[in-house]
Amino acid sequence: MKKIHVNASGSYDILIGHDILNEVGKTISKLFKSRNTVIVTDDIVDALYGDVLRKSLLKAGFNVKTFTFLNGEQSKNINTLTSVYDFLSESGITRTDFIIALGGGVVGDLAGFAAASFLRGIPFVQIPTTLLAQVDSSIGGKTAVNIKAGKNLVGAFHQPSLVICDINTLLTLKPETFNDGMGEVIKYAVAFSKPLFEILEKNDIKEVLDDVILDCINCKKEVVQADEKEAGERMKLNFGHTIGHAIEKHYNYKGITHGQAVAVGIYKITKQSEKLGITKPGSVDRIKKLLEKFKLPVTASITDEQILKNSLNDKKRHSDKMTIVVSPEIGDSKLMTLSIDDYKKFLIGKINT
Ligand code: GLY
Repeated sequence: MKKIHVNASGSYDILIGHDILNEVGKTISKLFKSRNTVIVTDDIVDALYGDVLRKSLLKAGFNVKTFTFLNGEQSKNINTLTSVYDFLSESGITRTDFIIALGGGVVGDLAGFAAASFLRGIPFVQIPTTLLAQVDSSIGGKTAVNIKAGKNLVGAFHQPSLVICDINTLLTLKPETFNDGMGEVIKYAVAFSKPLFEILEKNDIKEVLDDVILDCINCKKEVVQADEKEAGERMKLNFGHTIGHAIEKHYNYKGITHGQAVAVGIYKITKQSEKLGITKPGSVDRIKKLLEKFKLPVTASITDEQILKNSLNDKKRHSDKMTIVVSPEIGDSKLMTLSIDDYKKFLIGKINT
């Protein structure tokens, strides 16, 4: 088992290994005095891993209750959140008790925001069971739910007390869900690490998966430690996301996954930046090939006007300015702050840089 330590406003370990889910009770009992916890999970993950986790917690002497909701992005809303609050209250959860988020990004974001806000904040543990959640969303304390105006627009920064990544849980993922996580992995590679990009290009992912996960987590740790509240450096983790979120919203979070939308965002923003001379020529073709290796799309049914309209509600907008992330060359990224008008011109490839 590997251990990576994050030093943010809350400092915590990320444990990465195989078959470590059945050790969770023992691991967590060293961390908390309380023996009361609520697992928040979805129906699919509960059926797969709920019993293993509960058994391990009960064996270590915990009182465990489970709140299960319907899987999918559609559940990441205020109504589900209210049901979590009610369940926590009915379960007698106090400020010294804690929540366990067992599942993918939706579970982690929703349970994390419940933990951030219930009783003005209680501790929580992340047990991510998808590639996307293991390499990205479970680390760094971003928690949120979606509202009608857009994705993750209501949330809080609330660091977990521990993150446990059992790589074996990835074995039960549908190929589409695994590849969804590859959208975020490719984001790290393009925006931060040329060596990682080349590893992904040259190898069968199954042969290098453990190292790839470790690389991404280390990258995320560095960024979060440098800029926990996203005042600058952390915005680079949003590479491909401004367009990606606009696409997800356009599709009403159905029929396209987060990783697929981010893939289109990565491709589109780099295609434009290469056209404008900001990105080294040839980069976008390599990126396209890598995205296609993981069956990720590079186009979606959405016009530039619709992308623009949906992006204007994005958190990356600051009054009349928009901060976008571009990659000057594979393995590097920089922020560009544009007026809304220039952002529009950038999208259609006509801005003077
Ligand atoms: N997923 C982007 C971030 O955590 O900042």
